[in-house]
Amino acid sequence: MTRNSEAKALEAFLLQHVRQNGGISFAEYMSQCLYHPQYGYYMVSRDRIGKGGDFFTSSSVHSLFGRLIAKQLHEMWDILGRDAFTVVEQGAGEGHLCLDILDSIADDFPDFYEAMTYQLVEISPDNRTRQKTLLSRHLARVDWCEFADLKNIRGCFLSNELVDAFPVRLFEKHNGVLKEVYVVAGENGLGEELRPLEDPHITDYFRTVGIEPVEGNRFEVNLPAVEWMHAVADVLEVGFVLTVDYGYPAGELYAPFRRNGTLMCYRNHQSSDNPYDAPGSQDITAHIDFTALQKFGAERGLVTLFFGPQYKFLMALGFVETLMEMQAREPDEKRARALRLTLKNLIVPDGGMGETFKVLVQGKGVDEPALLCNRSLRDIPLPGAFA
Ligand SMILES: C[S@@+](CC[C@H](N)C(=O)[O-])C[C@H]1O[C@@H](n2cnc3c(N)ncnc32)[C@H](O)[C@@H]1O
Repeated sequence: MTRNSEAKALEAFLLQHVRQNGGISFAEYMSQCLYHPQYGYYMVSRDRIGKGGDFFTSSSVHSLFGRLIAKQLHEMWDILGRDAFTVVEQGAGEGHLCLDILDSIADDFPDFYEAMTYQLVEISPDNRTRQKTLLSRHLARVDWCEFADLKNIRGCFLSNELVDAFPVRLFEKHNGVLKEVYVVAGENGLGEELRPLEDPHITDYFRTVGIEPVEGNRFEVNLPAVEWMHAVADVLEVGFVLTVDYGYPAGELYAPFRRNGTLMCYRNHQSSDNPYDAPGSQDITAHIDFTALQKFGAERGLVTLFFGPQYKFLMALGFVETLMEMQAREPDEKRARALRLTLKNLIVPDGGMGETFKVLVQGKGVDEPALLCNRSLRDIPLPGAFA
């Protein structure tokens, strides 16, 4: 089937599904667009990540991202007593982060490599196939499983851009009352309707994150993120949760100036705010609420050990020093400059990956260790490397 006919088939299915149900929540719509077993964006075979796809992720920018995370994982292994250690990565895309982490651990920390298992949890059959091919040299360490099979994990639960791919519900507040956006079928195809809110989970959510939604604004609530945070905390016996994603603390995410929320779609590196355009052929995402992950995680015993922008996390783990070493090994000035420019993407603030992306590290049963990622930026030697 061509891309066009897949989108048409999904649109026809959605129209019928919406009619049959008299309207569906936006989360149900988003879930079908992304995860419909036959036509969903993540379920079909296509390039999604990188130059030939729809968007870049940090792991598709350069292997240094994974190498620095590997350093943090090594320290976590040390803290847990150098016993058997499991990294669970959920939503690994094509598997590049896993590959970079395992390559780096195999090279730099061989005793850790021998002690570890890397479990991948992946919803997309297409991505699972890509991961199996890419990770062929690490098959002795890597395994695939369902989330429901996880239990008593001692190690680290890792994800990069997973939570933003969970289906969100949409709301608006008018005359002091919260209304939910439903997707309905009209004569001209799919449209939207505001319906009374009938779910106490939403008011509980806002009470927990300490926010009063702003009159007149549209906003998203990612309830699967809450269930996920609880489930991750429950399967983790002792260790860490390391979550990288774009998002904000609740006060910033639900700020008055964000009149239309943060829902965005990506196709061929173009962004759009129309989720109804060619369903299944574009990614749909929303920025995540890091306050929710921290507050709901705390309900199940997770303690925040680090929260900050990606640039701080990577710099603390040795971004600058590693870049200097890599440059020193590169005699060709043109290639050295190209390397600097590529790597800069990972740490650029002001709307770049360095600040849009945040890192949250939580711990369970580990006291409050001063992790490497908490190293003060004042302790980092700053060369003229970024000139
Ligand atoms: C934006 S991609 C993340 C890319 C990847 N982590 C990287 O660094 O390039 C989202 C990934 O999450 C997966 N995914 C979404 N929901 C999931 C779920 N509930 N369980 C497992 N994987 C999921 C998608 O199939 C995809 O692999």
